Amino acid sequence: MPQALLARGLCRRYSWSGGHQDALRGVDLEVPTGTVLGLIGRNGAGKTTFLRIASTSLLPTAGSMQVLGHDVVTDAVNVRERIAVIPQESRPFYWMNPRELVYYYLTMRGETHRVAREKAAEALAELGLTRWENTVVSRLSGGLRRRAMVAMVMASDAELLFLDEPTTGLDPIARRSVWEAIRKAAKANRTIFLTTHYLDEADALSDRLALLESGKLLASGTRDDLAALARRPYRVEVSDGFPEEELRSYGDLSRVGERWMLFTGEKEARELSRRALEKGIRLSLGPVSLEDIFLQMVGQDISVEGEE
Ligand SMILES: Nc1ncnc2c1ncn2[C@@H]1O[C@H](COP(=O)(O)OP(=O)(O)OP(=O)(O)O)[C@@H](O)[C@H]1O
Ligand SMILES: [Mg+2]
Repeated sequence: MPQALLARGLCRRYSWSGGHQDALRGVDLEVPTGTVLGLIGRNGAGKTTFLRIASTSLLPTAGSMQVLGHDVVTDAVNVRERIAVIPQESRPFYWMNPRELVYYYLTMRGETHRVAREKAAEALAELGLTRWENTVVSRLSGGLRRRAMVAMVMASDAELLFLDEPTTGLDPIARRSVWEAIRKAAKANRTIFLTTHYLDEADALSDRLALLESGKLLASGTRDDLAALARRPYRVEVSDGFPEEELRSYGDLSRVGERWMLFTGEKEARELSRRALEKGIRLSLGPVSLEDIFLQMVGQDISVEGEE
């Protein structure tokens, strides 16, 4: 499968008088054509920096990146024609309505007036915006504005879509409409590069995941590849009944409300279930979620945040 995106040793240093910040430190990443890549990581991990370099709005300081076969530095024009981007926290022009917004975006990208009108109507309907298509953006809620941006890029003919937190601030139903639009785009063999802090969303949408931490790629691959890296692949929840010390001996223990939550290995999970049966204690056990994996991989040392 050809690669829609290929990064090698990508670095970005932000410099200012008296200081600098290395936002990316040698990232290697591939995104196969027609797949959804979910880039996850804590605040400040470097996700937006990576996405801005890939979408040619920021230059790398070292390393290389090819997008759709073109170098993002020397051949940026050819990249721009074939991608569409929703930057983090971007807002549509406030004096247009969603219908005009999508329509003008498409005509600027070279669609005929008729096709632009048709595609705009279709995308707005898909994102549940038909009711608001004639309402000026300044009178729309934040979530509706965000959805108008999603409609705009979805309606375009771009082969590769960069979506930086496209669903932040959306209600659960609106989020699902964005998910559907992303799934439909992927079915049509478009490539989606997505960042999100909603790990259920990353899990539900992504063919492959990449985990950034302090500018370095900590892991990448399918959900199962990441699960295999989790130190403790089982999550156990149990109410009182076991002494705390005993639970602690099985793995990483924390108190969540009225219950104990434990990350543990397979052998330990089996042993604990047996002990619970003997003692008549109820316990729930299952494989870790993507969020659990994330917490295990990057959550151990909170002091890393903001560190040079
Ligand atoms: N223009 C800038 N000048 C200086 N430092 C910057 C600039 N933009 C980002 N940074 C720093 O680079 C690092 C990576 O930032 P980036 O915005 O890429 O993170 P992110 O993973 O997108 O975070 P978030 O989840 O909060 O959106 C952070 O330490 C940030 O403070
Ligand atoms: Mg960001």
